[in-house]
Amino acid sequence: MLVLAIETSCDETSAAVLRTAPVLVGATAGKPQEWGRLPEVHVPRPAEKSALPPDKGGAGDSGTCTSGTCPPSSLNASAPEVLSNIVLSQDEVHAPYGGVVPELASRQHIKTIAAIVGEALSRAGVALEAVDLYAVTQGPGLIGSLLVGLSFAKGLAYYHKKPLVGVDHLEAHLEACFLENPGIEYPVLGLLVSGGHTALYLMEEPLSYKLLGKTRDDAAGEALDKIAKFLGLGYPGGPVIEKLGRGGDPKAFPFAVPRTKDRSLDFSFSGLKTAALKHIRERGVSKDDPRLSDFLASFEDIIARALVDNLRLAADAVLPRSLVLCGGVARNARLRARFQDFARQAGLDAYVPSPKLCTDNAAMVGALALKKFVRRPDTATDLDLDAYARA
Ligand code: KG4
Ligand code: ZN
Repeated sequence: MLVLAIETSCDETSAAVLRTAPVLVGATAGKPQEWGRLPEVHVPRPAEKSALPPDKGGAGDSGTCTSGTCPPSSLNASAPEVLSNIVLSQDEVHAPYGGVVPELASRQHIKTIAAIVGEALSRAGVALEAVDLYAVTQGPGLIGSLLVGLSFAKGLAYYHKKPLVGVDHLEAHLEACFLENPGIEYPVLGLLVSGGHTALYLMEEPLSYKLLGKTRDDAAGEALDKIAKFLGLGYPGGPVIEKLGRGGDPKAFPFAVPRTKDRSLDFSFSGLKTAALKHIRERGVSKDDPRLSDFLASFEDIIARALVDNLRLAADAVLPRSLVLCGGVARNARLRARFQDFARQAGLDAYVPSPKLCTDNAAMVGALALKKFVRRPDTATDLDLDAYARA
């Protein structure tokens, strides 16, 4: 069975083709399987990091179990094969503004989506007629951007009379962890850290998501992006802060770990952002300052500590068997290291996707759509499927 997935929730236009064993019920029952041409180009699975197109910075480790005590079941369970996963970033379009301009984002998606879908199909060696299932992100995200991908996917599904599954962007980020490690044992505690969201989820079984805590103000990625913008370092802020803060002393600037007053599992980063701005103004930290790397390392480290502190509280409360970390900020080496240290101390299996699967991509969307489709293969293609901006 072949899946074509589309992701346009924010500022990356992405399309992916995934292949899995046939689902012999419902919409595809009894139909001959068409596999299209065999791939002419070898497009590696995400785990084959070295052969992938260059990543935009971030940690270099691949998406595997990091505790050293991975369950043997992870070898048996199967995940779909990612034949292609094309991501076109709009960073250059938004960089002059220091953040995503929604109207420019949707216009850019309109310009590039057909080419990106075409590239995903050709890299996978798959003809459009061979696609069995369409997958698309419904939300949350920028509404104009979401509508571009959703309308494109609806058009394809309608014309080719194939099922279309809409998925939630945040659930898709969590799914990225299972794509490379299908045998992760439940209950799973997930920490999702992206540019727009910071949240903790308990997954007691596949496709079940219980929100345990979320940010009350800025997301962690947003705080990184805003401080980078303020210092004139460019957009997106996370990768540039990681690069310039490498080698800096994370204790040089004494930030307090941000916590919510009621000590709930919610996050809050706006106070930390204000404290960072105060340091910048009062101590004259600037782009060309020799203390810049210390400042950025301190800021990045305190964010990682706050995230892992809440993860620890949540783990004590829900006693998971496994931990997963996902979303764009999960590319960050300091956060990955703190996450893995905690998992080791707690004796829990811990999983982080490879960097390319942390930031927005369509492979995670296709993987989640497949799980949903396998569970309910008779789902009719709903052309009324709507986009939503908020979680
Ligand atoms: O998940 P994502 O691609 O998009 C959203 O769904 O928001 O995450 C984007 C966020 C941005 O805030 C970006 O600055 C951050 O991920 N990010 C990083 C790194 N790479 C991307 N943050 C810290 N370190 C990185 N290496
Ligand atoms: Zn995202």
